[in-house]
Amino acid sequence: MDTPKEIFLKDYNKPNYYFNTVDLTFSLGEEHTIVSSNITVYPRIEGSSSSPPLVLDGVDLKLVSVKIDGKELQEEDYQQDARHLTISSPPSTARFTVEIVTEIYPQKNTSLEGLYISSGNFVTQCEAEGFRKITYYQDRPDIMAKYTCRVEGDKTLYPVLLSNGNLVEQGDLEGGKHYAVWEDPHKKPCYLFALVAGDLQSRDGSFVTRSGRKVALRIWTPAEDLPKTVHAMYSLKAAMKWDEDVFGLEYDLDLFNIVAVPDFNMGAMENKSLNIFNSVLVLASPETATDVNYAQILGVIGHEYFHNWTGNRVTCRDWFQLSLKEGLTVFRDHEFSSDMGSRAVQRIKDVSYLREYQFPEDAGPIAHPVRPHSYIKMDNFYTLTVYEKGAEVVRMYKTLLGSQGFRRGMDLYFKRHDGQAVTCEDFYAAMRDANNVDFANFLLWYSQAGTPTVKVTSFYNSEAKTYSLKFSQEVPPTPGQAVKEPMLIPVAVGLLDSNGKDMPLTSVYHDEMLQEVSTDGQPANTTVLLIKKKEEEFLFSEISERPVPSLLRGYSAPIRLDSDLTDSDLFFLLAHDSDEFNRWEAGQVLARNLMLSLVADFQQNKPLALKADFVHGVRSILSDDSLDKEFIAKAIDLPGEGEIMDMMDIADPDAVHAVRSFIRKHLASELKAEFLKTVENNRSSDPYIFDHSNMSRRALKNIALSYLATLEDAQITELALNEYRTATNMTDQFAALTALVQNPGETRDEVLADFYSKWEHDFLVVNKWFGLQAMSDIPGNVENLRKLLQHPAFDLRNPNKVRSLIGRFPNSPVNFHAKDGSGYKFMGEMVLQVDKLNPQGASRLMSAFSRWKHYDETRQALAKAQLEMILSTNGISENVFEIASKSLA
Ligand code: PHE
Ligand code: ZN
Repeated sequence: MDTPKEIFLKDYNKPNYYFNTVDLTFSLGEEHTIVSSNITVYPRIEGSSSSPPLVLDGVDLKLVSVKIDGKELQEEDYQQDARHLTISSPPSTARFTVEIVTEIYPQKNTSLEGLYISSGNFVTQCEAEGFRKITYYQDRPDIMAKYTCRVEGDKTLYPVLLSNGNLVEQGDLEGGKHYAVWEDPHKKPCYLFALVAGDLQSRDGSFVTRSGRKVALRIWTPAEDLPKTVHAMYSLKAAMKWDEDVFGLEYDLDLFNIVAVPDFNMGAMENKSLNIFNSVLVLASPETATDVNYAQILGVIGHEYFHNWTGNRVTCRDWFQLSLKEGLTVFRDHEFSSDMGSRAVQRIKDVSYLREYQFPEDAGPIAHPVRPHSYIKMDNFYTLTVYEKGAEVVRMYKTLLGSQGFRRGMDLYFKRHDGQAVTCEDFYAAMRDANNVDFANFLLWYSQAGTPTVKVTSFYNSEAKTYSLKFSQEVPPTPGQAVKEPMLIPVAVGLLDSNGKDMPLTSVYHDEMLQEVSTDGQPANTTVLLIKKKEEEFLFSEISERPVPSLLRGYSAPIRLDSDLTDSDLFFLLAHDSDEFNRWEAGQVLARNLMLSLVADFQQNKPLALKADFVHGVRSILSDDSLDKEFIAKAIDLPGEGEIMDMMDIADPDAVHAVRSFIRKHLASELKAEFLKTVENNRSSDPYIFDHSNMSRRALKNIALSYLATLEDAQITELALNEYRTATNMTDQFAALTALVQNPGETRDEVLADFYSKWEHDFLVVNKWFGLQAMSDIPGNVENLRKLLQHPAFDLRNPNKVRSLIGRFPNSPVNFHAKDGSGYKFMGEMVLQVDKLNPQGASRLMSAFSRWKHYDETRQALAKAQLEMILSTNGISENVFEIASKSLA
């Protein structure tokens, strides 16, 4: 490997040439594929006497020929290196054509970027920089052109030939071949190009847009999987309708395709009209997919569909702007899922995920801003920060501007930028200009990494009847950013009276200024306080008694909140807050405080004990019929081990695991009768329906079962076995299996073997089986994983299998962080093995090491040794190099 080159946002330059049209021809072969590309080019600055060189990107290509304006170039007319083809002096005309023929080898492509084979079908993946593995091109998103694509291939092997846009021609060719010509009328960057050729069938549907366009919807899979596409079709139609209703956005072509493929690095890809999905995010049947899978499919189909406007019609100027499309589209899919289910529960899920996974990323060696300043491999920046924190940044615009203001901003964004490749500032400017507001330091959310901490203290003055909230903010240092500026943080606040009701809020003083809170003459229940400086104070007037504040309602900013609420305030909020998210949050804060204090006890060898009021709190939620069942299931679930470790100065996986297990077991024994009743009352033998009430019922039953199973008691094992055997859908079956395999022993082994023999024919279900074993906390589990690597169903080339069996392993912190180093060693070896086949997959596995400095010295030394071993290995990919070197820096 040459020393990898770091690319900086500050070095962005406009291209010297733009492309107008691109005509591609693929001649697909069993040994190699010939790609011919015919591009019309025009210079950015017309009429200059000397023309700058035209530099095209290209990797792993065999160049067959280059022509300019129809004339074949001689070797002295161009230069080639491992990454580029440079045409030294192109014509200085206003327009010229470049024709390039290359030969590529999809059958040998295990990286799954560019053109590759999955289950015998040709598939492309071009985002971020895969198009350069197909042909020489200016592979950057600000080059937008109109494409046609002619695909030729064997008619029996590849009866279906697809590309972007509309089918304009098809027919037979000699030698058992056929062809299809596709034309995409919309300009697009090359990362949205796609081609699929293979033996597939489609489920067909249709959708009529509100302006009357009839859109054909096709979901393509191998014939045997077609029955599993009902939910995907439902999800697609729901997403199309939702985007019209909520954002006024319609689909813009007559055809929308989804193709499900078993070998795919990511979740799914929004190629214009030819969306390619990892099959786990398309295929579902009640027998084989869980509620979680159904919900993910709904969310991801929504996500890719929404990209048609936020990503495709308006795209990114350069890859540093990735969050422009991803943060915004994740925000949109979260909103969609909220509207399709429960808003409060969706928010709870999204915030838990952010805290468990994005917070650690933002606190470790690869912390980076929502808009990174530099990268070596762009693939490494499809991160939780860009996606999930980016979505929180978009949500803050909505919190600041209100629904209508946000919609005005979105409308202006599309009006200004349709058909363009733009930046995060352009989005900001649209929001600002549509609403005539000044957001001061809001843009810092894009450029400063690290999770801000906000401290709040409160004071009630009973004489003056005022209540004050004092805030101070701190953004922690992150690699390359030692000193941070204060940011604009919207904090939504309500005040509860002693009956637990919201106090009417009329006015608040800030910086000596009186601000009206009431809207339309009506007092408000919630007001959004804007923290702009390092320290701010707000004073509420006419407050007749000491309130309990409900702070950061709906999690109005992605921060760590450190408040002076007492346990009794928190129990009060848990019982009464009108903001459902904050009810849940109060319970979580109580649980986090409890867990952290028990962790300290554990570390000092003190006996662990659970306070009665905590058990009582859980009992009262469990038995509150007025609550949504999915909400109850979330509210009685303890914060994850990762979340607790993230809050510690030195993470102690053994202590956190011991404490979490202790609390679960203790709750199970104290509340055994309630949990049994919960299981009893929430069973159903009706056919599976994916809707909120049924999902909620199953979620509640299954969390109760999982608590009970911690008791390791024969009666419960019988109960769980019975649930397992009589389950009529995968949600219940897998939940019972999960409950049973918590405890080592014969039953565990038997039920795992039984499940495999039931499902060995179904690759997606087998992956669940791998994943469940990978995440297991049973002692010494790494040895089981090594055995499973040899299992006939395992395959290192398939990303889903790698993710299930290897990628899930760190979800068991006790085993991954085992003090003998066995977990780190396993992961180190796996990274190197996967890297030889698939660098993106390997580099993703490395995220397990990202917070190695957050552990004790013994563990640090062991993890560091693995990182050094990886970095010193010859021939590692740039992807792995970047993460390993940054982790060690
Ligand atoms: N753009 C895809 C999405 O988020 C993700 C993706 C990135 C897929 C890179 C493949 C490669 O919808
Ligand atoms: Zn996306």
